[in-house]
This record gives sequence, structure tokens and C-alpha cells, in this order.
Amino acid sequence: MALKVVWVDPAFAPLAPEERIFGEAGIEFVYAPCASEEQIIGVAHDADAIMVVLHNYISSGILAALPRCRLVVRHGIGVDNIDVRAATELGILVANNVTYCVDEVADLAMGLLLACTRKIALLSQSVHAGTWDGTAAGIGHRLRGSTLGVLGLGRIGRRVARRASGFGLKLLACDPYIDPSVATELGGKMVSLDELLAQSDLLTIHTPLTAETRQLIRERELRLMKPTAYLVNTARGDIVEIAALVKALQEGWIAGVGLDVIEGVPPISADHPLLRFDNAILTPHMAWYSEEAKLELQEACAWDVVRVLRGEPPLSMVNAEVLQRPNCRVKELRVAP
Ligand SMILES: NC(=O)c1ccc[n+]([C@@H]2O[C@H](COP(=O)([O-])OP(=O)(O)OC[C@H]3O[C@@H](n4cnc5c(N)ncnc54)[C@H](O)[C@@H]3O)[C@@H](O)[C@H]2O)c1
Repeated sequence: MALKVVWVDPAFAPLAPEERIFGEAGIEFVYAPCASEEQIIGVAHDADAIMVVLHNYISSGILAALPRCRLVVRHGIGVDNIDVRAATELGILVANNVTYCVDEVADLAMGLLLACTRKIALLSQSVHAGTWDGTAAGIGHRLRGSTLGVLGLGRIGRRVARRASGFGLKLLACDPYIDPSVATELGGKMVSLDELLAQSDLLTIHTPLTAETRQLIRERELRLMKPTAYLVNTARGDIVEIAALVKALQEGWIAGVGLDVIEGVPPISADHPLLRFDNAILTPHMAWYSEEAKLELQEACAWDVVRVLRGEPPLSMVNAEVLQRPNCRVKELRVAP
């Protein structure tokens, strides 16, 4: 029986790289954008691997109904839309791509921080509206010497920290899962979440979405921030509770936000409360995007499928512990002791 890989989400781009790579490897490639668990099970029940972007949640129910599936490839970094624990229990390997867009996301985070403090969007809107008035957006503060707080000092957070040092920003970071020396080496200091919130002039979020970080930033946390501070989120919308954020903007607990991701979005409705605030700069979850990142991701993920189905390891394993399980479906990837 030919090997088969199924892409279960709507595609964000033509899938020509995947068609070429799978075609050359002799693997059947099925593009089947699904809108429900039943549809995914229907198209992927005999798949050796599935590929998922972010539209569908790959639940334990789906995984349990895919008896041949050895590999789930997340087309991106965050794996919050995959039940990784269930995959591990079933012996299925989960792979992601942790490198393709780290510069792009860091660039957009920096761009949002600059747009907030330098009021770029507001000033542009006022010029478009026919007003040539440099004070129309209110006077901002000097960036040099301000304090940047990085929540989650991983790959992207570190890149933001490096970029920010070029702007003369002081660095604080909060990341309980890494050695504090990482912050020191970047010229900054590791602090608690409350200290980060209270001391940052600019706060940028770069944690994964996990049970611990879901709604990590709520009313209590936003109230700890300076009324002059800006919050930027390019990680996951569900990390910041939207109702609390709207209240914070309404009541001036913070000066503004730059968001690439918003809790519950997409889709964004015309009456979404954030659209009322001209100090909310919003982009449609595109921090990752560049032509180079898109192509790199497409080729790397397709090659990961080919590699694993040939018995070789993917670039990045999310649940390497699956290799130790007796029911592991990719036993050939075990490294000899
Ligand atoms: N907007 C986009 O287009 C886009 C693109 C790529 C990634 N992302 C998001 O960015 C996230 C971060 O990516 P990355 O490559 O830097 O990941 P990473 O794993 O390299 O870094 C994440 C860091 O967050 C830390 N962390 C985890 N829980 C924490 C907590 N409770 N408090 C503080 N720190 C915590 C981890 O220790 C780690 O150092 C991804 O998980 C993804 O959700 C968004």
C-alpha cells in the first residue's frame, strides 16, 4: 500500500512545494481542508501522516481513529492545536518547525512596539484623513532608556531582546523555565511576572500557549502595569483575556496595545470591542509571514514527512519521549544507546 499524507487544514498558499516533494518521494499527497473531526477522520483514516496548520484541533478522538498514522506535522511552531499527550500515548510522533519565522516574528513584535510608542498608525491615519498635524496623536515618550519586558525568553523573545538593545532599551525578562543567565547574557535581568508587569514600559509576549499561560494576563496583571506602558502580543491570543484588556484600554490602565493575535479571533466581527480603540494596533496573525519563511516552512515540513516515513528523524520532535514507548509507531527512529 502506498504511503499517504493528508493535509487537513485550509491551505494558506498554493501547495506546489508539497506536491513536488511528495511526488518525487512517491508518497500520495491529499489536500483535504476539513471543518470537523468527522471530516478529518473520513479523509485521514488510512493516512501514514497528517499535516495541520491551526484551523483544526487535532484531538485524542481524531488521533485514536487514525490507526496507521505515525506522524502529525504541525505546520508552524506552536502546538497548542494538537493533543500532544494523546499522540504520545498512542505512539504517534508530533513534529513542528521551530526556526522558519523567528526573525519575522521578532521583527513584527519590534514593529508593533515602535508603532505603539511612535504612534505610527495613528499619525498615518490622520494624514490619510487630511490632517497634517504632528501632535494629532499625542506626544510619545523616548524609546532609549525605556524598559522592555520580555515574557518568554525563548527563540523569538531572545531575538526581540537583541533587536531592542539596538534601540537602547533596558531588558527585563520573565521565563521560569530557563536559566536566568540567559537574560544576563543579553544585558538584562530575569524577574518575576509581577515585577515584569510593574516595571516594563513595553511588554512583549513570547510564551507558547499552554494550560499555564492560557489567560495568564488578566485584570490583576493588567492593573499591575504602568498607565504609560504598551503591551504587544505576537504569541497566542488566548494568553491575554480579551474582556480584561478591553477594560484596561477603556479605563486607561495601560497606554495601548499591539496585537497580532487576539483571543477568540479569527473571525473578527465588525463590532469587536478592540476596534473602538485607536491605541489598539491590530494585525491578522501574520507575524510569521514572509515569502522566504513561507517557502522554508512548506519545504521543511514536507521533507519532515518524507524523512520520518523513510525512518529518519524530523528537524524538530515535539514529543521525543514517544520513542521510548512500547507502542511507538516510529520505533526505527530510536537512537541506539
Ligand atoms: N504570530 C505568529 O505568526 C507566530 C509565529 C510563530 C510562533 N508564534 C508563537 O510564539 C510562541 C513562542 O515561539 P518561540 O519560538 O519563541 O518558542 P520557544 O519555545 O523557543 O520559547 C518560548 C519560551 O517561553 C517560555 N515559557 C513557557 N511558559 C512560560 C511562562 N508561564 N512564563 C514565562 N515564560 C514561559 C519557555 O520557557 C520558552 O523559553 C510560539 O509558541 C507560538 O505560539 C506566533
